[in-house]
Amino acid sequence: MPRRNGVFLGSLYSLAVLCLVAIVNAEDPYRFFTWNVTYGDIYPMGIRQQGILINGQFPGPEIYSVTNDNLIINVFNNLPEPFLLSWNGIQQRRNSYVDGVYGTTCPIPPGQNFTYKLQVKDQIGSFFYFPSLGFQKAGGGFGAIKILSRPRIPVPFADPADDYSILIGDWYTTNHTRLEKIMDLGWRLPFPNGALINGRGDGGVTYNVEQGKTYRLRISNVGLQNTFNFRIQGHTMTLVEVEGTHTVQTPLSSLDIHVGQSYSVLVTADQPPQDYYIAVSSRFTGQNLNTTAVLRYTNSNKPVSGTPPPPPNADISWSLNQARSIRTNLTASGPRPNPQGSYHYGQINITRTIKITGSAAIIGRKQRYHVNGVSFVDADTPLKLADSLNISGVFKVGSIPDEPTNKAPYLDTSVMGADFRAFIEIVFENKENVIQSWHIDGYNFFVVGMDGGRWSVKSRDTYNLVDAVSRCTVQVYPKSWTAIYLGLDNVGMWNIRNEFWVRRYLGEQFYLRVYSPVMSPRDEYPLPQNALRCGRAVEKRS
Ligand SMILES: *[C@@H]1O[C@H](CO)[C@@H](O)[C@H](O)[C@H]1NC(C)=O
Ligand SMILES: *[C@@H]1O[C@H](CO)[C@@H](O)[C@H](O)[C@H]1NC(C)=O
Ligand SMILES: *[C@@H]1O[C@H](CO)[C@@H](O)[C@H](O)[C@H]1NC(C)=O
Ligand SMILES: *[C@@H]1O[C@H](CO)[C@@H](O)[C@H](O)[C@H]1NC(C)=O
Ligand SMILES: *[C@@H]1O[C@H](CO)[C@@H](O)[C@H](O)[C@H]1NC(C)=O
Ligand SMILES: *[C@@H]1O[C@H](CO)[C@@H](O)[C@H](O)[C@H]1NC(C)=O
Ligand SMILES: *[C@@H]1O[C@H](CO)[C@@H](O)[C@H](O)[C@H]1NC(C)=O
Repeated sequence: MPRRNGVFLGSLYSLAVLCLVAIVNAEDPYRFFTWNVTYGDIYPMGIRQQGILINGQFPGPEIYSVTNDNLIINVFNNLPEPFLLSWNGIQQRRNSYVDGVYGTTCPIPPGQNFTYKLQVKDQIGSFFYFPSLGFQKAGGGFGAIKILSRPRIPVPFADPADDYSILIGDWYTTNHTRLEKIMDLGWRLPFPNGALINGRGDGGVTYNVEQGKTYRLRISNVGLQNTFNFRIQGHTMTLVEVEGTHTVQTPLSSLDIHVGQSYSVLVTADQPPQDYYIAVSSRFTGQNLNTTAVLRYTNSNKPVSGTPPPPPNADISWSLNQARSIRTNLTASGPRPNPQGSYHYGQINITRTIKITGSAAIIGRKQRYHVNGVSFVDADTPLKLADSLNISGVFKVGSIPDEPTNKAPYLDTSVMGADFRAFIEIVFENKENVIQSWHIDGYNFFVVGMDGGRWSVKSRDTYNLVDAVSRCTVQVYPKSWTAIYLGLDNVGMWNIRNEFWVRRYLGEQFYLRVYSPVMSPRDEYPLPQNALRCGRAVEKRS
């Protein structure tokens, strides 16, 4: 009987782990949300448009949470089309099923609902959610997520008087279905029509501050392609956090925020009491988009005056130098009480180097984009569901090479395999004249190097192996490279994408399947019981 005993003990063990997991989750607080997603009239640029609203709001409601909170978000899709939300920067530890991209999660059909059960496990910082299907992000449906430190964990700056989320980004006055049609026909999209701050154009939003007090602003670029420079007339900002990492606190007169990125700055109302411009302008493109909001002192006696402050020179090296100056404060705590510097990422041996080149190509007479020669197309079934329900023929692991090749680009459902617990280097190479912004779901990574020209093994000599910032979205400047270190400690199916949304829509993305041969809830939770079924997963029982 030893064998049966082994099996029995094995299942007892998994049961124990399951209970443990349940208990740990139960100890952490729950926050419940009910969201009604509808179309509604919005006027972001003064023209009536049909926007995607959540509980009647554009942008959607902010999610306020504390490290380890369970977020139970019941989303009712009252659009006449499928809908799916994803959570930029929320790591979904052991739980890629709820990541909310089509490679992991079935869309919510019109008229139905789905309850996301997320845990912001071991995370702090500033992030956002957005609709991930097609080009729905161009219609709204996005909102801010903030994760505060638990009360006993020290934060390396005094409590701010208030904490404002500011969503910036470019905007089209054309709706998302029309934009999709243009791209599906293989045509180029026009340049976006404008820039928005929290869903409003020029001067539409006011942030109130009291003289002498200090405020935290969490700024996320939720737009579709453009980098924006952010600044406040007459005020210096102090950078304090980047996507969950407390940074060395540096004074800034302005900050470049690439598409998909989030930053926290502190601002002290230390100027004469009046109204000041908050200004954003697009960067590195021939055409310019800009808009303003207002910083109003509560004792203000003067409306905004003068011209909005101009952006710094639209020079890549200015932006590159700023990016390199962003460092982790090694002695500050992150989500746990131990200092962020206690994880010595620079001393871990790299077991694999992946080179990622995203490029444009014409495939089948249509404008497409690809990664290492493969232009991603969705399968008929979410890849993660196919994986966990053992549905074969949906995707092939290894359908994208580790480096660019000389083959003609082609379409495929590209999935790269990787081993759980491997520690890898990824070099993003950008040979084009357009800035790219790469995001990895399920992880934060260390941005060890960034420079103009071609990457070579000698470039490793310039890496920052001590206090590089750990984040989830990183820019790659035109004709430049960016290198990251990534510890694969989160089993699952994870989307790697260019946040430049046209490029992602037309194939510049793939999935990383981080695999553990041991099927254990210690490494990955089972498929949630309420998981929606679609494609070939409809028939399949787990
Ligand atoms: C959602 O909003 C629509 C339009 O306002 C309304 O008809 C519907 O009853 C709402 N549904 C829920 C579940 O609140
Ligand atoms: C849909 O909402 C109901 C509550 O109105 C809830 O009981 C049910 O679990 C939700 N469905 C899913 C798939 O989450
Ligand atoms: C988008 O605009 C087109 C007209 O250009 C219209 O036919 C379509 O219904 C609109 N779609 C949405 C979702 O508003
Ligand atoms: C806005 O953009 C225009 C060019 O389109 C530029 O001339 C102007 O300086 C910009 N304004 C601000 C405040 O950045
Ligand atoms: C780093 O964090 C510590 C808290 O451990 C704080 O006292 C210090 O001011 C921070 N230093 C900088 C330069 O941000
Ligand atoms: C890393 O690799 C070096 C050289 O191959 C080796 O000497 C060292 O022991 C390795 N370190 C670890 C932590 O495995
Ligand atoms: C998965 O399916 C393959 C055939 O498609 C089968 O050989 C294998 O045993 C299945 N594995 C499990 C765990 O069901």
